Amino acid sequence: MSYRITDFDQYKRDYDLSVQNPESFWENVAENFTWDKKWTKVQSGNFSDANIKWFENGKLNITNNCLDRHIPTKANDLALLFIANSPEEIDKRFTFKELLDEVSLTANMLKAQGVQKGDRVILYMSMVPELLISVLACARIGAVHSVVFGGFSAQALAGRIEDAEAKLIITNDGGYRGDKIIPLKNIVDEALLLEGCESVEKVIVHKRVNNIINMSPERDVDWDAAREGMSLNCPAESMDAEDTLFTLYTSGSTGKPKGIKHTVAGYMVWAAYTFENVFQVEENDLYWCTADIGWITGHSYITYGPLLNGKSTVMFEGVPTYPDASRFWQIVEKYKITHFYTAPTAIRALMGCGDEFVEKNDLSSLKVIGSVGEPINDEAWHWYNEKVGKKKCPIVDTWWQTETGGIMISPLANITKLKPCFATLPLPGVRPVLLDEKGQEITSIEAEGNLCMKHPWPGVVRSIWGDHERYKQTYFSTYPGYYFTGDGCRRDSEGFFRITGRVDDVINVSGHRIGTAEVEDAIDQHHDVIEAAVVGYPHDIKGQGIYAFVMVSKNATEKIKEEIIASVVKYIGPIAKPDKIQIVKGLPKTRSGKIMRRILRKIAAAEFDSFGDISTLLDPEVVEEIKSGAILD
Ligand code: WTA
Repeated sequence: MSYRITDFDQYKRDYDLSVQNPESFWENVAENFTWDKKWTKVQSGNFSDANIKWFENGKLNITNNCLDRHIPTKANDLALLFIANSPEEIDKRFTFKELLDEVSLTANMLKAQGVQKGDRVILYMSMVPELLISVLACARIGAVHSVVFGGFSAQALAGRIEDAEAKLIITNDGGYRGDKIIPLKNIVDEALLLEGCESVEKVIVHKRVNNIINMSPERDVDWDAAREGMSLNCPAESMDAEDTLFTLYTSGSTGKPKGIKHTVAGYMVWAAYTFENVFQVEENDLYWCTADIGWITGHSYITYGPLLNGKSTVMFEGVPTYPDASRFWQIVEKYKITHFYTAPTAIRALMGCGDEFVEKNDLSSLKVIGSVGEPINDEAWHWYNEKVGKKKCPIVDTWWQTETGGIMISPLANITKLKPCFATLPLPGVRPVLLDEKGQEITSIEAEGNLCMKHPWPGVVRSIWGDHERYKQTYFSTYPGYYFTGDGCRRDSEGFFRITGRVDDVINVSGHRIGTAEVEDAIDQHHDVIEAAVVGYPHDIKGQGIYAFVMVSKNATEKIKEEIIASVVKYIGPIAKPDKIQIVKGLPKTRSGKIMRRILRKIAAAEFDSFGDISTLLDPEVVEEIKSGAILD
């Protein structure tokens, strides 16, 4: 039996089955995979007990399912195509057999370096094949991979190393990104000097850019040297269905980034099922997702989703605008890409560069185009549809989150009717509801409310690494019995969903999730800062920009704004730099001392006449002062 949905009637049938009898539905899907031992219970636990399990007592390894399983039929088929940052550099190809060999060899290397099942391995790398290989090598031996995006600073990296108590790090000497080189190894060195990183025993260094780096003789090991003489044979570790496959750190409304924990079997089933049905890739197609493996999209839809289905995947090292804004389209033409999956921020940036870049290349190979990471605005949707898809490619606007493991609400390509800017309908197994401010489900079809889920799906986050209590608090306490997404959503008269954006203190900058509290903490580190409040505001290209209102002491010099930016870059990374910094005399606080962010959000968005009730403010006059100094361009 296959799990591929082929038409809308089947979608409806499968959806209904998945709701009426989730266990038998997912059992049928799971039977398509290779298991060392079958599960004894399909699903247990719920959003009240926060103890969710899928395929309990089943034993398996996800890399057997990504690689070994396809060897009898696809050994020589393309598994991975790597396209380098520079168009001058030759691409690299790996068949399924070659990728299996690379993964096995690397897995043996990790073992030889002392990594055991359950150990955490941090991957702080650029988009090179060795990153995807390392991810799978960890999975092969049951080590927990935790990829940290190369745009995070030494401080941010150190925080993740400490939280994960990582034993080993894999990095590159540096990473190419357009005309820049990110000095990844130097950043690792810097991180490891910070307190809390004592757990790290070894750093494996893959050379990509050949810059000068220091190698610490006891700690650092060259990738090639470490792999020398390793066997190509590495039997996959038999994992429990609920063993941790990976953690991935992401931002929330409060506190430090959380290690989102996904487990082997449920995540595997979800990544595979959603990839197959949303994108509808066929034999001889070539699917390309432009994300970075440092984010969940690169986990589920560059690495696991395609390979689990025996489909080839493309990894691109560079950026959309290097050497110029036609790079994506040159790649589409050259490799005859059929499925193209990117983020609205990239679409808007390229749209802003002018149509001549997208019109230069032949995009006729494209069949399906996708969007992920943030709400896609009307203008960008239509430009994508007309200029890229030439009005013949369905746009799959896929809504999901790090926590959901895979796509939740999305059209299925060529199956679901499209509606601009709507993520449309839930996948089988997904039961979205809209809740009002009292926590009641809104029963009318046309509605707007907070988006929640009513029933566990296989890919749902299982815990926050090292802090199960925080897991319960974050996802299940706002609306008891439901999983709360943090997103607002509208439903139209046909039951189609449109995500309107975060309703909590998370901002989505160019598709990157950033917690306002984290940025505030980074700003507060500056000794002349008294207090800061950070909010998001609408930004033409990034979706949202970061606006910081900052109270500073008398000692602050005219350099204070630059210093604040430097502090954010130091503690988080360049992705969290405030776009606007307004120095203020006071912040609007309630009598109990809480900052009224609602008002700051309005000011940042230049909406000056709808502040609502401000009578509970301690000092309503600060609002006037902030308004008059607002940065509006
Ligand atoms: C937002 C990325 C509208 C949303 C996969 C969510 C979207 C957050 C869409 C998760 C979409 C993602 N339309 N909004 N198609 N996809 N989002 O964890 O606010 O990096 O909560 O996962 O991105 O971001 P994350």
